[in-house]
Amino acid sequence: MVIKPKIKGSLALNCHPVGCKEEVLNQIKYVENSKKYKGAKKVLIIGASSGYGLATRISLAFGGSDSDTIGVSFEREGSKRKVGSAGWYSNIWFREEAEKKGLIAKNILGDAFSHNMKEEVIKYIKEEFGGKIDLLVYSLASGMRTDPDTNKIYKSNLRPQGESLTGFTFNVEKESMEEVTLSPATEEDLTNTVKVMGGEDWELWVKALIEANVVSEGFKTMAYSYIGPAVMEGIYRHGTIGSAKEHLEKTARDLDEVLKDEKSGEAYVAVNKAIVTKASAYIPIFPLYASALMRVMEEKGIEENAIEHTHRLFADMVYGDKPEFDSEKRMRPDSWELRDDVQEEVLEIYKKVTENNFKELTDFDKYKTEFLKLNGFKVEGVNYEEDVDLEELSKLKP
Ligand code: NAI
Ligand code: NA
Repeated sequence: MVIKPKIKGSLALNCHPVGCKEEVLNQIKYVENSKKYKGAKKVLIIGASSGYGLATRISLAFGGSDSDTIGVSFEREGSKRKVGSAGWYSNIWFREEAEKKGLIAKNILGDAFSHNMKEEVIKYIKEEFGGKIDLLVYSLASGMRTDPDTNKIYKSNLRPQGESLTGFTFNVEKESMEEVTLSPATEEDLTNTVKVMGGEDWELWVKALIEANVVSEGFKTMAYSYIGPAVMEGIYRHGTIGSAKEHLEKTARDLDEVLKDEKSGEAYVAVNKAIVTKASAYIPIFPLYASALMRVMEEKGIEENAIEHTHRLFADMVYGDKPEFDSEKRMRPDSWELRDDVQEEVLEIYKKVTENNFKELTDFDKYKTEFLKLNGFKVEGVNYEEDVDLEELSKLKP
């Protein structure tokens, strides 16, 4: 089957398994040729199949640390007739490369929010992973969560709070920019979004791992947060998702106390840069910002994609000699994004941008390319006219 990208509005509907492989290999090549660091040897990554979680896994396994990893993710399996999700294949390609190096790369697929998943991971750590982990990276992004105790389903709703918000959003399919107005969140939208994207599940993970005695002395855990500039405040930091991130950051401070006492360990969030991922493409108004930011950071020679940003985070900050923490013990690799000169130029673009000139003023081309690459399209060196053998691929298991 020859696979061409299918996009509906701003949603990608399929992926190219061979392109996904090339993307994993490209990320591996990038860290192999970058600065090396020594970090945790035994790592659990929740949300390991795409975006920041996948980049984290690649950096840790191939960037000098040679970490064994367990990657938890929720992905759609490919069959003989139907192509699976990008993360399904990325898990497989990552494991193959890591195993060639003699590393353990265990993929566990299912719902990270459930009690079952926590039990399955703990059992695996005890029986096959050497009994303890040194690092847990929480990089989950989801639109819904089933509460493991009540089975109630919560759906996040990314909205402004207090008043409505008007902004522009991209339609990648039509290559157009459209104005959207978002009405303010209800109390329920807020509660639900915090329930899904706040720190509750991260805390359940850490407590379950401590309880089961599978964390080492000096154990560290990190989750990824976002702050962003004033132009994004309405939808992000002051929006429902911002409240969820505040909750996540408070969870980090609480877990830090617990871990200090129990394991001489620590917990913190890293506030990462805005990049194009499956999750961020879904945030209203965010794509325009991401594409303006790319343009400006590119011109200044400081633009980073997922792997570049994540590898710098680990090599320079988490396990390096240049950690940047703010007064709330949040690690701040986003300091480049938030530089005054960067944000002043983003603001200039925002003042002039219209439905007609957005392709010239922002880097829409690059935004679209990055968007397509998430699903293995537009990757250099891949022949997209060639047949993809789904039957062969369906024999590969995570
Ligand atoms: P992503 O969509 O690329 O990755 C999400 C991961 O979560 C995938 O591996 C997916 O399989 C997994 N997942 C989703 N639901 C699951 C479930 N129920 N059980 C198990 N796994 C599940 O997203 P991205 O952007 O990498 O986000 C990761 C974290 O980074 C999020 O906390 C996000 O807020 C944060 N972040 C993202 C930024 C961005 O610009 N993309 C900027 C700063 C922080
Ligand atoms: Na991720």
